This record gives sequence, C-alpha cells and structure tokens, in this order.
Amino acid sequence: MKTLIAYYSRAGENLSDGNIRTLTVGYTEIAARIVQRYTGGDLCPIRPVRPYSENFCECMNQSKQDLSRNILPHLSGTPIDLSGYGVIYLGYPNYWNTLPMPVVAFLEAHDLTGKIIRPFCTYEISGFGHSIRDLKRLCPGAEIREGLAVRGARVASEEETIAEWVSADPLPWNISTNDLRIRRNV
Ligand SMILES: Cc1cc2nc3c(=O)[nH]c(=O)nc-3n(C[C@H](O)[C@H](O)[C@H](O)COP(=O)(O)O)c2cc1C
Repeated sequence: MKTLIAYYSRAGENLSDGNIRTLTVGYTEIAARIVQRYTGGDLCPIRPVRPYSENFCECMNQSKQDLSRNILPHLSGTPIDLSGYGVIYLGYPNYWNTLPMPVVAFLEAHDLTGKIIRPFCTYEISGFGHSIRDLKRLCPGAEIREGLAVRGARVASEEETIAEWVSADPLPWNISTNDLRIRRNV
C-alpha cells in the first residue's frame, strides 16, 4: 500500500505573523513537501479549476461565500484513483476555523472508507479550529489519526517537528525504515 500526500495551498497574499505578505509558495505546500521527504509518498495538490484570488481580501470574500453557501469548487484532475493508497496525509490551511471548501470538495469526491488519514494544517492563530471535527463528519469510514498544526510563518523552520510527527505514528504495512528518507542527524 502506498502513501498519498493530498494538500490544498495557495500562493499570493496571506497572513504571516500578523502581517500580510506575498508568498511565492504557500505554507501548506512547504509542509507537504517536507512530509513527502520523510514518507516517500506521492504528492497530490488539490487544485480548484478557478483558484481563489491571490488578493487576500478577495480570497476572504470568495472562500467565505463558498463556505456559507456550501459551494464545492470544481477541482482539476479529480477524482483520482485512491485504491493503491492506505495512508493519506491531508494538508490544508485553516480557513474560517475549518477546512477550505476545495478540501471538502476533494473529500466528497472520494470514498475514503478504510483509509488512514493523517491531517496537517497551517494557520495564523487558531490551530486546527474545528476542522478535525468536520473532517470526521465528512469521512465517517476513515480512521483519522492524530494531526499536526503548525503556524504558517514557522513552517519552514519546523521541519524537525514535522519529521517527528511523521515518524511517531506506527507504519501499518511493510515499509522498511530504509525506504524512508529520514534525514535527521545526518
Ligand atoms: C480565506 C482565509 C481564511 C483564513 N482563516 C483563518 C482562521 O480562521 N484562523 C487562522 O488561524 N488562520 C486563518 N487564515 C490564515 C491561514 O490559515 C494561514 O495563513 C495559512 O498558513 C495559509 O496557508 P497556505 O499558504 O498554504 O494557503 C486564513 C487565511 C485565509 C486566506
């Protein structure tokens, strides 16, 4: 069984340590790449056909509208064949204290029954918010393992924390640790 790292992230203007900064790579994408290095899993960006604006205020309005009206954005390249995957690392930024609607759309488009989900989130102030509760409601047949929330502006310097979180959970199948690119203490 393989490992998938499905994540939603957005470059452009965003909150960063109390200021608005323009990011060339979104914080959750940085975290996803770190998870990939330590798991050897396949990266799967969750991409809305119409991305939210790179302008912060416009993005706030668009995403709030989708959330309040329960609009599921169309995703490119979805659904994907998840049959070979046993563990899904699911990465997302905290939007309005919950999952961004592109992530909800991804979850609605796939049957995750029997999969292990390891959620990770980046945020500005409120950690996971109530996204874990919402994730459990959206994926009743999946096993949601303990997640990791990292403040967006710190994500690049938290590689060690992410690596420890990845390796703390027992691997469910025959992946030898030699297959993993554990780079700590190297
Ligand atoms: C539309 C929107 C809503 C957000 N809502 C929250 C929130 O409720 N709580 C929070 O701590 N951060 C919130 N943030 C900040 C993001 O979670 C944070 O900047 C995150 O690291 C961005 O990840 P990304 O660069 O991968 O998109 C919000 C950001 C945006 C754009």
